[in-house]
Amino acid sequence: MNDLNNNITIAVDGFAACGKSTLAKALAKELGYIYIDSGAMYRAVTLYFLDNSIDIEDDLSVASALEQIRITFRNIDGNNHTFLNEKDVENEIRAMRVSDFVSPVSTISSVRRFLVACQKEMGKQKGIVMDGRDIGTVVFPDAELKLFMTASPEVRTKRRLLELESKGISDYSFEQVQKNLTERDRIDSTRSDSPLRKADDAIVIDNSALSTAEQLMLALTLANEIIEKKNIRESVNG
Ligand code: DC
Repeated sequence: MNDLNNNITIAVDGFAACGKSTLAKALAKELGYIYIDSGAMYRAVTLYFLDNSIDIEDDLSVASALEQIRITFRNIDGNNHTFLNEKDVENEIRAMRVSDFVSPVSTISSVRRFLVACQKEMGKQKGIVMDGRDIGTVVFPDAELKLFMTASPEVRTKRRLLELESKGISDYSFEQVQKNLTERDRIDSTRSDSPLRKADDAIVIDNSALSTAEQLMLALTLANEIIEKKNIRESVNG
């Protein structure tokens, strides 16, 4: 566990199903940091819009819906669970009806403003690892460590299928999942408000051929170097 003063902020961005959350979660655990899955927040908003038939073309409906939404995270038996207005929606937000609608919802500027404000608040204390699409560019542009993950489309599709299976969702084909990932990447990278892009100072990790242990070792080495330098700077400055 680290001295609070020397905690850093770590941003993990990248395309859909690149293993961002697996790495970010493991990294947070090793460092004793908070882990936040920002994609789960966009998914929770999307679920609310779907369940309440919110017309995303109608700015007023979107604005009043956002006022009704509260997203929190709780650790249950070692797993991170997303809560929407006090209800555990961890499995529901991974369903394909949400995956198919989340990218259009993420293009709405009022949704982004609302969630970015929540995310900045969560990161105030530092000691946080957050994964998403705009964490290193918009949410935490001053993060001490920024990682940008990539992997081949086939590897990503297989990973997302495994993730869905681990949540008891097994009714989608390889082609359906790959189509969803490709389409989301297209919308996420081309939207006008905070598109997915690598921050200039981010370190790229292509993990197509890396095990989760190798990725963790690489990221931990980078994080520890930065924390060490921060410690030295602070001890010099008294
Ligand atoms: O990480 P994920 O695949 O669960 O994210 C779901 C969607 O949420 C993704 O397709 C785009 C959006 N998203 C975003 O726009 N900005 C973020 N910081 C995180 C996710």
